Amino acid sequence: MDRAEDGRTRLFSGIQPTGEIHLGNYLGAVRRWVELQRDHFGIFSVVDLHALTLPWDPARLRDQVVDTTALLLAAGIDPERSVLFAQSEVPAHAELTWVLTCLARMGELRRMIQFKEKSRGAGESVGAGVLTYPVLQAADVLLYRAAGVPVGEDQRQHIELMRDLAERFNASFGPVFVVPEAWVGEAGARIMALDDPTEKMSKSSPRPGSKILVTDPPDVLARKIRSAVTDSGRDVRAGADKPALTNLLTIYSVVEGVTVTELERRFAGRGYSDFKAALAEAVIEFLRPVRERYEVLVADRARIEDVLAAGARRAAAMAEETMVDVWAATGLGRRRPAYVAPVPELG
Ligand code: TYM
Repeated sequence: MDRAEDGRTRLFSGIQPTGEIHLGNYLGAVRRWVELQRDHFGIFSVVDLHALTLPWDPARLRDQVVDTTALLLAAGIDPERSVLFAQSEVPAHAELTWVLTCLARMGELRRMIQFKEKSRGAGESVGAGVLTYPVLQAADVLLYRAAGVPVGEDQRQHIELMRDLAERFNASFGPVFVVPEAWVGEAGARIMALDDPTEKMSKSSPRPGSKILVTDPPDVLARKIRSAVTDSGRDVRAGADKPALTNLLTIYSVVEGVTVTELERRFAGRGYSDFKAALAEAVIEFLRPVRERYEVLVADRARIEDVLAAGARRAAAMAEETMVDVWAATGLGRRRPAYVAPVPELG
């Protein structure tokens, strides 16, 4: 059941359309999706329902979905080989979320690190969606019976929760779901902010100098790297006492495909500014093809909408197979074909 029609293992992952894709998203997730889609069956979603958990701008939301999709295509997601779609266009995500919400416990949701971070200071007025956010994420993956979830380190706890929900459901109602595993990469799974290496690089950060955007032009990118904080001393080396250099060396090593040790050797005795200049050059060249493809793709909005419409049709058909079993197992009954609204044509 965890196998796609053509025998490839199914993977699911998602990305929020809020804010532009940064180097952390790219190295921790998107770059790996592109590699993994060669030997696996990838289902990738721009998760716009998740974006409603924090205040949003209705006039911009769909544009953000289209932009994010264009970036995924520019990065190399192949919509013929993988399924690429917007979450809100497949109603089963919201339906399964409700069923799983009724199995989830307040205590386990309150324990989520992201809930604690996002609700800090909000007291009782924190949105209920911030609490139930990981249940929607569980529905995303379980709907497709995906075996693997390629994500960055920060998503591990959410994957643990979806495993618990899948096991709880299966124990009560029969083996409907595949229990998925987190696939966290070895390198680049946790890229830190350029201006504060104790914090992860994050879309929601209001400080532009904290993150490198995949779409940053070369001069902006070079400036950001030049202004990145460093540690005391002059040696270009990684270590617990050098969190900023460790982060920059990690970025360099993933981008160039060389080990940190090799870079330490290359930059021995050369000081921080030499190192930063070389790093900026490497990152600029690494991102250049993605940025250039993105600029072409994003100009053709209609084509992106077509990709999303086709992706939603494929995703909805796959999701429906699971929903038939969920409805039967829980006693909600038979899902009538008429009940499933057709995916609207976009354009
Ligand atoms: P999001 O949109 O915050 O991030 C998308 C992906 O990027 C990874 N990531 C990072 N990796 C390394 N270093 C960083 N600094 C960094 N920041 C982000 C994230 O781990 C993620 O893989 N809740 C998810 C979206 C989601 C999802 C899902 C993921 C919704 N449904 C189902 C997997 C499966 C999120 O907000 O990711």
